[in-house]
Amino acid sequence: MPNEVSGLFSDLHSVLLDAASIQERVASMAAAVERDFAGKEITVIALMDGALFFVADLLRHIDLPMRIVTMSASSYNGTTKSSAEVRLPWPVGLDLRGQHVLVLDDILDTGLTLAAVMERVRREPVASLKSGVLLEKRRAHARDVAADYVGFEIEDEFVVGYGMDYAGKFRNLPCIGILRLEGEG
Ligand code: IMP
Ligand code: MG
Repeated sequence: MPNEVSGLFSDLHSVLLDAASIQERVASMAAAVERDFAGKEITVIALMDGALFFVADLLRHIDLPMRIVTMSASSYNGTTKSSAEVRLPWPVGLDLRGQHVLVLDDILDTGLTLAAVMERVRREPVASLKSGVLLEKRRAHARDVAADYVGFEIEDEFVVGYGMDYAGKFRNLPCIGILRLEGEG
């Protein structure tokens, strides 16, 4: 039954974070962002496609004026191996002058992606710059990069769901899980 809705779940070895726990944590992260940026207008840079669900849920809890910009940075090429190259096409005409910028991504793994984005944004005359990720893997990050907001710390395992993919799939899982390995029952 590969095409049933439950097919996605049956490819999981285990559920790491269920939908309710994610929603609860995202709401409390939103409260922290709202507190920190009180009285300011935010420019959110959402890193696609992984941060899609995280950003959509987080930002709807934040009662502050904001602009939302999407960017597609990638250090992955459809595999579970990270490559050292980060591609970051810069949106044409994007003006960050005097903006309070919040960069959001799904997960901090090697840290190459966030480091590259932060480095690029810092070249603009922004008023302030912060970053947030839903997940941070417990591992050494390739560069000295730390997110200001972290939802959950997880072990150094490959996860899928809630925006995160394996070869383009599993993003629409409402929970975050670990994939069953080939041949595993
Ligand atoms: P980094 O540059 O190694 O920190 O990787 C960050 C990007 O790689 C994230 O934005 C994700 O798109 C992707 N990534 C890293 N770890 C995982 C994972 O466990 N599952 C799915 N995608 C991941
Ligand atoms: Mg990503």
